[in-house]
Amino acid sequence: MTMTLRVDAAADPARQDNVVLFGSVEDGIDAAGRDLPILARAAALRALGDFTGKLGATSLLYDDSGSRRWLLVGLGEKAKVNGRAWRAAGAAAQVTLAGLGAESATCVLPAGARVGELATGLLLSGYRYDRYLQSEDAKAKHLASATLVPAPGDDVAAAIAALSRAECHARGASLARDLMNGPGNAVTPSHLAAAATAIAAESGGRIRCRVLGEPELEAENCRAILAVGAGSAEESKLIVLEYAPTGKVPAGRTLALVGKGVTFDTGGISIKPAALMEEMKYDMGGAAAVLGVFRALAELDLPVKVVGLVPTVENMPDGRSYRPGDIVVTRSGLSIEIKNTDAEGRVILSDALDYAKDFAPDLLIDLATLTGACVVALAHEAAGLMANDAGEAFVADLRESGDRSGERVWPLPMYAEYEELIKSDVADMCNTGGRYGGAIAAAKLLQRFADHSPWIHLDIAGTAWTGKERDITPKGGNGFGVRLLMDFIEGFGS
Ligand code: BES
Ligand code: MN
Ligand code: ZN
Repeated sequence: MTMTLRVDAAADPARQDNVVLFGSVEDGIDAAGRDLPILARAAALRALGDFTGKLGATSLLYDDSGSRRWLLVGLGEKAKVNGRAWRAAGAAAQVTLAGLGAESATCVLPAGARVGELATGLLLSGYRYDRYLQSEDAKAKHLASATLVPAPGDDVAAAIAALSRAECHARGASLARDLMNGPGNAVTPSHLAAAATAIAAESGGRIRCRVLGEPELEAENCRAILAVGAGSAEESKLIVLEYAPTGKVPAGRTLALVGKGVTFDTGGISIKPAALMEEMKYDMGGAAAVLGVFRALAELDLPVKVVGLVPTVENMPDGRSYRPGDIVVTRSGLSIEIKNTDAEGRVILSDALDYAKDFAPDLLIDLATLTGACVVALAHEAAGLMANDAGEAFVADLRESGDRSGERVWPLPMYAEYEELIKSDVADMCNTGGRYGGAIAAAKLLQRFADHSPWIHLDIAGTAWTGKERDITPKGGNGFGVRLLMDFIEGFGS
């Protein structure tokens, strides 16, 4: 994502090469009163029924010189034009123009345009993971730059601020995507630790990072993290990031974020089938989201304290692997009977959630690609949200952030009766439920380690990876959670 965006109210659209105009179903193109010769042609196209203004619809026009493109992009029905529509419009402009080999675009905005959302769409739909492609031809092209021209009378300073916020969040999301798309042989627990260390080093002192390796994990009694990582040649780690405001931390504003960082999940001794196992490189999507958030925080001066905890391991079958039937004594002292080594995320999270207690957070949120059951429940449209009673107070705000950012979350119940699912005969709990309610069974285990604080669990198994290119995301890891959490953090505690 190396695309430069700028706001320029003085840019003259008639002198640019690739101009984007936006329109609605009802009114056609809305040029905010600007007198552009191409508008007559756009109106004719609409009369023909070729440009409907439907969301994401595009039509291409050329002026008389034949050397200038004008792209019409639909925003849908006027009453329904929201942030999601503007992101989709940005994505449509990016994908269409990049497909034509264009390098730059000038977006002529109607009054009240959502600059931040448009920028988000342009930036994130232009993302490609091409690190390992040798030939330049194989690399998909994206726009190198775009100029956004606010409507006459619109607040230019506000547009500039919205743009810089979108860029900051997109940089965080792109970092998360790079980590998720990186293969398991490159993105190891040590690689995640190095990425976290680099984020802190480049933060101008705003962020501190500590990495606990295996000796430190022993000393901290993080036996659960060590058990899951035991079968791997890669060293298991717990990454600890801290972002603090300049000055005192305001009361009620300490947030702890925990992200599952299984850099590759084979299932371990309870090994997974071969089909699609390669996708399990994204089993560190929660970790990627947490690192992406810190990448974004590094650029900002927010009056909140954020702690990031990333337990990171590789889940491998080996002579040293943990086994079904093992009983693991976690950092908190509670024991877990391992019934299935493929239910490893909840095991490593138990130690990390307990570790969060030391920071006395006002809210604890974990993100984890935790269960296939959550994908069965919600498919790819929303992450599963489960909270303890004290965490419920934050759910409405988080859901609003989800709706605003388009990274939606949806609640599942946490009735006490579900605790039955994880009863064990020989330990304090076991790591798998039965056939039903798998997402909740996993959350119930986590709750045993998170109840020291208000807590919300996000199961992102279905939302972290995009199987087919759609909306603002190309195929692959999409950085789910970064924009959601950044939106939430901006309002946290206020
Ligand atoms: N990482 C998987 C969950 C997952 C599944 C993430 C699909 C993304 C897409 C997790 O570690 C796992 O294997 N869960 C098992 C738990 C089961 C053994 C109780 C599952 O969901 O099948
Ligand atoms: Mn697993
Ligand atoms: Zn997993």
